[in-house]
This record gives sequence, C-alpha cells and structure tokens, in this order.
Amino acid sequence: MTGPKPKAMQCSWKAVLLLVAASLAVQYTAIRSFITKPLAICRVAKPRDCQASTTTSCPPQWPPTSHILVLATTRSGSSFVGQLLNQHSDIFYLFEPLYHVQTALINTSVRVRPPADGRRLLLGAYRDLLRGLFGCRLQELEAYIKPAPELHRTQRLFRRGASRALCAPPVCASRPPPEPGEGQGGGAEGERWEEGECVRKCGSLNLTLASRVCLHRHHVAIKTVRIPEVGDLRTLLEDPRLNLKVIQLVRDPRGILASRIDTFPDSFRAWKIWRNSGRKPYNLDASHLSATCADFLRSAGTGLARPGWLKGRYMLVRYEDLAREPEKKTREIYRFLGVSLDANVKRWILNNTRGAGASGNHKYATVRDSAATAEGWRLKLTFDMVELVQDICNLTLAQLGYRMVNSAEELRNVSISLAEDRTFLPFL
Ligand SMILES: *[C@@H]1O[C@H](CO)[C@@H](O)[C@H](O)[C@H]1NC(C)=O
Ligand SMILES: *[C@@H]1O[C@H](CO)[C@@H](O)[C@H](O)[C@H]1NC(C)=O
Ligand SMILES: *[C@@H]1O[C@H](CO)[C@@H](O)[C@H](O)[C@H]1NC(C)=O
Ligand SMILES: *[C@@H]1O[C@H](CO)[C@@H](O)[C@H](O)[C@H]1NC(C)=O
Ligand SMILES: *[C@@H]1O[C@H](CO)[C@@H](O)[C@H](O)[C@H]1NC(C)=O
Repeated sequence: MTGPKPKAMQCSWKAVLLLVAASLAVQYTAIRSFITKPLAICRVAKPRDCQASTTTSCPPQWPPTSHILVLATTRSGSSFVGQLLNQHSDIFYLFEPLYHVQTALINTSVRVRPPADGRRLLLGAYRDLLRGLFGCRLQELEAYIKPAPELHRTQRLFRRGASRALCAPPVCASRPPPEPGEGQGGGAEGERWEEGECVRKCGSLNLTLASRVCLHRHHVAIKTVRIPEVGDLRTLLEDPRLNLKVIQLVRDPRGILASRIDTFPDSFRAWKIWRNSGRKPYNLDASHLSATCADFLRSAGTGLARPGWLKGRYMLVRYEDLAREPEKKTREIYRFLGVSLDANVKRWILNNTRGAGASGNHKYATVRDSAATAEGWRLKLTFDMVELVQDICNLTLAQLGYRMVNSAEELRNVSISLAEDRTFLPFL
C-alpha cells in the first residue's frame, strides 16, 4: 500500500497481526506434536526392496544421497527449472510442497503478511518439512494437507501433476500414454500425463507408496517460492544428515512484474489498469516488488560473498541465461549438482525451448519459446512502469547485471538484450 490508511483500519490491522502470530504458534505446536510421533517409513522399508521401483535395477544407495532445492520467486521461471529436474529418471521431484504449510498455518481469508515472529515460525516449519521430504518422509505433509488424508491417501496434494514420479506407476495405477515423438514401448520413464489428466486419472495419492518410490531414487529435488533467501536455509545446509545444494533462480524484476500481471489478474488489477490506460492508479501496491528485489539482493549477496557454509552448495542462475542457451546452462547446472544428464532431460529441453508448438495456455505452462519470452516484457510494460521498477530495484538490477533503460525507444528496441553478459560461477 502506498497511500495512507484510515486510522480505524490501521488499528484493526494491528489486532489482526497479533491474532495471526498467536494462532500460528498454537497451530504449529499442535502440528509438530503430530509429526514428531514415529512415522518413519524410511526405517521400515528395506533398502534393497525393489517392489516399488519403476526401474529394473535398484539404486545402490539409500535413502537419497543428494538433495536439491530450487530457490525461486513467483514468475521467475521456476516451473521451467523444475522441469529440468523433474524429467530426470533418478530425481524425485516435488513442486512447491511448502504451499500446504502456508495454507495450514496462515488463514488466507485474513489478507496480511505474517508479522516478524510469525515469519520466523513459518520458516522453521518450512525447514522442518523440507528436512523430512528430503529424507522421503512424505507423511510429514499429512499434518498440513486439508482435508486430512485418510490411511495416508489424499486427493489434495498441491500440483501433484507437476511431479512425474507421482503420475507414473507404481504411484499411479493407470499407465500414462507414451510421450509424443518417442519410440513405441518407451517404458514408464518416457511416459507422462498432462498435469490435469494425472490428477483425474490417477485417483488419490498413496503417500506411503510415494515415499517408497522416493527411497529408490538417488536425488530428491524440491522447488519453492516460499523461502525468501538462501540465508534462511543455513541450518539445512549445515545439517550433516543432508547433502543440500541450492540453485537460486533469479530473473529481471521487470520481467517478473510483467508476468505477474498476466498471471494473477485479480491481485494485479491496478497494475493492469496502469498498463492499459497509461495512468498510474493511486492505490498501486508495489510491496511485492520491493520484497522480491530485497530478497534477491540479500540472497545473491550472501551467495556471491561465498561464506564457508555455502561452499559447493550454491549456484546462481539467471532465467535469461537459461532461456538464451538452455542446453549449455542445463549442463552447467547438472555439473554443479554432480548428476549426469539423462536422455529424458535432453529430450525435454529440445522439445520445449524451440518456439512453435506452444500448446496449452495453462498458467504455469513451460512449453514455449524460452528465449523470446524471457525479454518479452519489454513490449508489455509502459516506460513509466519500467521506471518505477528501476527505482525500487536499482541495486538489485546492478548486482545481477540487468541494464536499466532511459527511454521508451531503448526499452522497445529488443535488438539489444538488457541482460548483460555476466558469468556467475557456482561456488565450488
Ligand atoms: C479465517 O478468519 C476469518 C476471519 O477471522 C474467519 O471467519 C474464518 O473462519 C477463518 N478461517 C479459518 C479456516 O480458520
Ligand atoms: C516434441 O513435441 C511435438 C509435439 O508435442 C512432437 O511432435 C515431437 O515429436 C516432439 N519431439 C520430441 C523430440 O520429443
Ligand atoms: C499404500 O501403499 C502401501 C505401500 O505399497 C500399501 O501397503 C498400502 O496398503 C496402501 N494404502 C492404501 C490405503 O491403499
Ligand atoms: C539507487 O537508488 C538509491 C536511492 O533510491 C541511490 O542512493 C543509489 O545511488 C542508486 N544506486 C544505483 C546503483 O543506481
Ligand atoms: C536499436 O539499437 C541499435 C543499436 O544501438 C540501433 O542500431 C538500431 O537502429 C536501433 N533500432 C531502432 C528501431 O531504434
């Protein structure tokens, strides 16, 4: 909010904040006492039990020995990066599981950000759940899913369809159709439902079974937009039980804004009016932008300062670079992860970064010409809007190598990229 608020509203605002803080603490305590009860399926499953595996040979190690977190923000291209991991046959990938924590602990009908204390609690809950999920304890999600799963089965896992392992046998009893462009009889790994279809055809999700499948993979990867900065992950990065690597994905905040306006028309109505009418509405809320830019600045600042606890564990990726040279960048990412690239990933890149065939208008579709869309915002935002972002985010733009523009002509002349050539080497 930029304008002053009426007095009465400010008061109730504070009262609401207090209520949120109090209820967060109570709810989280209740949830913790649930999930600290022994549920550890990992200890029950036999390491060499291949029953749940979709591959013929068992992974030699158990449980997964490497953990990958994609640290992103909304509309920064995280679905794209997520897919690069999701497609790999030895990676168990989850799309934004922390969503359930947020919805369980914060009453979203009260539209406020959690106050400082609530934020700390929430981050603690996020970390606890991440630790559990990296250990394949998917049951730890059950405390947060609404309605509560029965017999470890749920219909309500957020974006289940975005996770390949959860849409293929044995987790999904129905067999998906072979991927287009693939040889016949491609085997389970090459088959895939469209996201919505997975949910319709696969029935409820058996979390116990999913945990077992997870235990047969070498790597677990999780994507999230709910952790503000890499410093918030320090306790996980230093946890000797984990081997965590963080891929921090950033994007030009001007591109993020354009994409958010298109994706969330309800929350960004004022911005849309500005874009369409050329007149800046008085009630414009730019707090999401300042938050994103501050998070980027702090997080990239921490990463680039190379503290000991991040050694070998941090890589900064600009979405624009990935879009420009998807194959090369993907190789770099996999090299950093110490995982070999497999044919599924290569095939997916080929088929999803070469223009044309942009099918489906799903909000989070990744199928499109990546290079062209990365800077497509330059034709969508007015120069005034771009100036506002540049004012708010000037330090972030400078740090990440995004050039500012000084005129509408410069903005629209897409023959020169605004993402300067910068090399952000992983900290090895
Ligand atoms: C959220 O808060 C509103 C207003 O205080 C209340 O009416 C509603 O029942 C709450 N919802 C949940 C799920 O707690
Ligand atoms: C990519 O997808 C298109 C249509 O979805 C299909 O025709 C083509 O064969 C696919 N190519 C590969 C390499 O998978
Ligand atoms: C879920 O999967 C586990 C492991 O395969 C199985 O033992 C259990 O019976 C399944 N639960 C339900 C409710 O189907
Ligand atoms: C960014 O803006 C601040 C004030 O808004 C100003 O002091 C600073 O010099 C600017 N920095 C750059 C790199 O433009
Ligand atoms: C775009 O910028 C380039 C390089 O500065 C310049 O040569 C070209 O004339 C510009 N195009 C337009 C349409 O202004």
